[in-house]
Amino acid sequence: VNNLFIDCDPGLDDAIAILLAGRARNLNLLGVSSVAGNQTVAKTTENARRIVGLGGLGCPVAKGSSGPLLRPPVIADDYHGESGLGGAELPPDRAPLAAENAVPWLAEQILAQTTPVTIVPIGPLTNIALLLNAFPEVKGKIERIVMMGGAVGAGNVTPSAEFNIYADPEAAKMVFKSGVPISMVGLDVTNQVLATRQIVEKIRSLNNSVSDYVSGWLTFYIDAYYRTRGIEGGALHDPLAVVALIDKDVLRFEDMLVDVETRSDLTYGRTVCEPSRWSDKKANAQVAIEVNPDLFWDILFDALSRY
Ligand code: BDR
Ligand code: CA
Repeated sequence: VNNLFIDCDPGLDDAIAILLAGRARNLNLLGVSSVAGNQTVAKTTENARRIVGLGGLGCPVAKGSSGPLLRPPVIADDYHGESGLGGAELPPDRAPLAAENAVPWLAEQILAQTTPVTIVPIGPLTNIALLLNAFPEVKGKIERIVMMGGAVGAGNVTPSAEFNIYADPEAAKMVFKSGVPISMVGLDVTNQVLATRQIVEKIRSLNNSVSDYVSGWLTFYIDAYYRTRGIEGGALHDPLAVVALIDKDVLRFEDMLVDVETRSDLTYGRTVCEPSRWSDKKANAQVAIEVNPDLFWDILFDALSRY
């Protein structure tokens, strides 16, 4: 069983990632921290509390950073709505707030564990960069960081950059340089996992405590993808990072040396990925390059059907 913390900016796909982690057979969700990203931190924190409440997950939620380390904030309300959870009313139940400052809270929680934990960042990396810098002693207690972000190929917010990295490139750079083992689950695989209207119907027909919410969120998300990109289907990014911990057969990874561009206007926030087999440089991350979408959907349905 994998003990994990999710650091997130819910966010429609974040919400589904949390619900997936909450009912996966081999995961133990220890806590959730919020960060500014898809929406302001006030909204992402509220959303995280409502999702944990909806799932009855009983894990603590802590409020994280209100903006990136250096750059001006960017949000993604076009995909996630004004509330950050478009497509459904916010769920009524709300988990209590465990801490107003997630960074020292995470350090304390991680150090209190008897075995190393996995950190799953699925938003901008602000909290995680601050954590690793202010509390380097946690590094020995982190088995791995499994993050959704970046891309070997094209970006989604600019031609060069993926949203989570673009929203705080300096933080992402610090995390990649931290020495903690990293699995990067980026657009190269997440863009291949598209939630369609058929999938929405299948989720709706689960007819349980989360199915109306999840299908409402996904409908909003699919509409946003159609509106902004002209494609049928919304890329379900964040749950892919969680699924990497559930079943190692969903993603195939390759060792790479990953760095983040922080100085160029054109490519600001780009993850620059060099396969280590091309050079004698030591890899600092394994990067997902292949995905089995059918297996992913099986695992997601299995988890959601247990609410
Ligand atoms: C990432 O950006 C956010 O909008 C999503 O929640 C996901 O974490 C995809 O680029
Ligand atoms: Ca996210």
